[in-house]
Amino acid sequence: MTATLIDGKAFAAGIREKVAAHVARLKSDHGLTPGLAVVLVGEDPASQVYVRNKGEQTREAGMASFEHRLSADTSEPDLLALIDRLNADPSVHGILVQLPLPDHIGEAKVINAIDPAKDVDGFHISNVGLLATGQKSMVPCTPLGCLLMLRDALGSLSGLNAVVVGRSNIVGKPMAQLLLADSCTVTIAHSRTRDLPEVCRRADILVAAVGRPQMIPGDWVKPGATVIDVGINRVPAPEKGEGKTRLVGDVDFASAVEVAGAITPVPGGVGPMTIACLLANTVTACCRANG
Ligand code: GUN
Repeated sequence: MTATLIDGKAFAAGIREKVAAHVARLKSDHGLTPGLAVVLVGEDPASQVYVRNKGEQTREAGMASFEHRLSADTSEPDLLALIDRLNADPSVHGILVQLPLPDHIGEAKVINAIDPAKDVDGFHISNVGLLATGQKSMVPCTPLGCLLMLRDALGSLSGLNAVVVGRSNIVGKPMAQLLLADSCTVTIAHSRTRDLPEVCRRADILVAAVGRPQMIPGDWVKPGATVIDVGINRVPAPEKGEGKTRLVGDVDFASAVEVAGAITPVPGGVGPMTIACLLANTVTACCRANG
């Protein structure tokens, strides 16, 4: 059997189209332009690419993009002062501080300084608590993108066994909350989980978010399962030439595609959904701020 491919690229393009149409209506009917501020501290190459893509797609959707690129030695008080200004700026509806931050800056302190209503990442402790208690919150973009693809592929998720491999605050934990809210039976597995292959083999829904290239082989996948691969890992690709690289997921795609019922590819699966959901969250924040 060969799995159906879940086309995150096409799905994300559809979301971006809906977002752009919504933005156009907000402008014409209410004179509102949703605005997203993205803050990058330092020169991490992967973060620079993400931030550039976020800015481009924000503008393409007709929204205002405010980029703040700060040097790696920016102090925590200076960063907090910038966040205060963005919190107070009525043209900024969403604020995203790109992670990871340099070691001398307290990540939790910075995230929790963002106005929760503008926290389009959904990382503020208030939004984490609202999500965990089933209340209206900002939902983290990558797990939200995964959930939308799962609902599209499977319809109702009720009663399914979901295994999330990875317990990060950005993906693993909020993913588990969203699956629980959709009535899945949820297991969060991680590096200390005993007999991880056996745990994975019980999953009707397997979400891999560990950041370890091709860690999950096809024989850990239950036949017919839906596999969501959140990993984006750059690995050497000598077959493409000396010094060349390619992107792979946390799942060994070649073997998993033979077993799964449906699977997201890397690239072109979860990745494009993250920014599409970020744009959607920014429009939501703008609408909530303006009643
Ligand atoms: N770094 C990696 N993923 C993310 C994300 O979703 N949001 C932010 N702010 N930083 C990240």
